Amino acid sequence: MLEDQLDRAFPDLAEIRDKRLRGLVGELWRSVSERNPVHTDIERIPTHPLFPIERHGSLANHIRGQMAVSKTLVPTYMREWRIELSLDHFLATAAIHDAAKVVEFVEQDGKLVATPGFDHALVAGRLARDLGFPPEIAHMVAVHTYVGPMRLPRSRAAQLFQYLDPLCLPVFPEHGKSSVERHLEANHWSVAAPPDDVP
Ligand SMILES: [Fe+2]
Ligand SMILES: [Fe+2]
Repeated sequence: MLEDQLDRAFPDLAEIRDKRLRGLVGELWRSVSERNPVHTDIERIPTHPLFPIERHGSLANHIRGQMAVSKTLVPTYMREWRIELSLDHFLATAAIHDAAKVVEFVEQDGKLVATPGFDHALVAGRLARDLGFPPEIAHMVAVHTYVGPMRLPRSRAAQLFQYLDPLCLPVFPEHGKSSVERHLEANHWSVAAPPDDVP
């Protein structure tokens, strides 16, 4: 079961001080895993079926990256700008924000495919709310992506987490479309080329 692999995959979960919150992370993973048991190894889930793990890293790499950056980001905002953020909230959000991809990515003719129209952010956000996560975390999860309908973050933490998401996805223009381009195009925004005189 995927939830049994969480502690090994994400050692930074041990830094979440609120024990109940740590338990809820496990509950959420159990819930998505039960809905689609096709995923049995947490290290073998891609960030998207179109992005091979060998080139772009796995969902677990994405989450570990977010946890590592959060451990620097949260104290930096406090130190430099006196903005208080909860490291517990950032670590828990990183751990669960993409967990609904376990439900979204299904097997079809022996291949992993994404379910069309599936809104993994909204599904995980609702699941978090229903399981009893703090509403601030459910909101951070629900608005974490630019893909799909435009959702504005209502908190500083949610806004920062929106930045953190593409930052921890090594999808660069030389690999095809960058994560930022994909986000913009998903909302039918055009991507302008820089003027010729800009290096
Ligand atoms: Fe996501
Ligand atoms: Fe993500």
